[in-house]
Amino acid sequence: MSHSVNPGTAVNPQLAKLHPYPFEKLRQLFSGVTPNPDHRAISLGIGEPKHPTPAFILTALTHNVHGLANYPSTIGSDKLRTAIASWLERRYGVPALDPATQVLPVNGSREALFGIAHCVIDATGATEPPLVLCPNPFYQIYEGAAYLAGAEPYFVNSEPSRNFACDYSGVPDDVWARVQLLYLCSPGNPTGATLSLDDWRQLFALADRYNFVIAADECYSEIYHGSAPPLGALPW
Ligand SMILES: Cc1ncc(COP(=O)(O)O)c(C=O)c1O
Repeated sequence: MSHSVNPGTAVNPQLAKLHPYPFEKLRQLFSGVTPNPDHRAISLGIGEPKHPTPAFILTALTHNVHGLANYPSTIGSDKLRTAIASWLERRYGVPALDPATQVLPVNGSREALFGIAHCVIDATGATEPPLVLCPNPFYQIYEGAAYLAGAEPYFVNSEPSRNFACDYSGVPDDVWARVQLLYLCSPGNPTGATLSLDDWRQLFALADRYNFVIAADECYSEIYHGSAPPLGALPW
């Protein structure tokens, strides 16, 4: 099915608030720039894999390609949800999770990050738009989700003096009072900064006090130096 929008047709007015995707902005900034051939380029563009796909993944994919003929169920297979729950239990040392009610596979974390704002934000009857707190710099879907859900993003800057962690202690009380959703990204993109236990404690205490939801984007949780994996929102 395809839709075309006639001039004058009502569309969500929040769409006008969305910014161009950063990689599109970068592409335009790079056009006409000739890199110095004396230096090896370090791409700060879209984070495409730079290494070959591990053989076991290719094997699993090719052996299961026939499965693409079936639509997956929205909730995902029991086997997948059980495997995810077991991984979470091992990784975070949490008591047994219920794969039927506590795990929902998504088609990339971006889908969940976008959808959560629509589940959480309630702008009905508000005199001022609700706020979605985001780190800055940030993964752009946080901002788009906030606007399209009828909220406004409020950015908390990464602080060079804190090794690029955000300083939430500077957020005024009247801002916290309007926050309905807080996106956290630890390890952060693009800074790599991770939240300490004290940071997590402080933010959960604020969530209880001001009654907002924390969406913990931990898509880089398994990229770390050394033997201690970074803390996450789940107990550890
Ligand atoms: C911070 C962050 N969150 C989420 C995503 C989305 O990842 P995916 O939808 O591939 O899981 C990205 C991808 O670049 C990201 O950098």
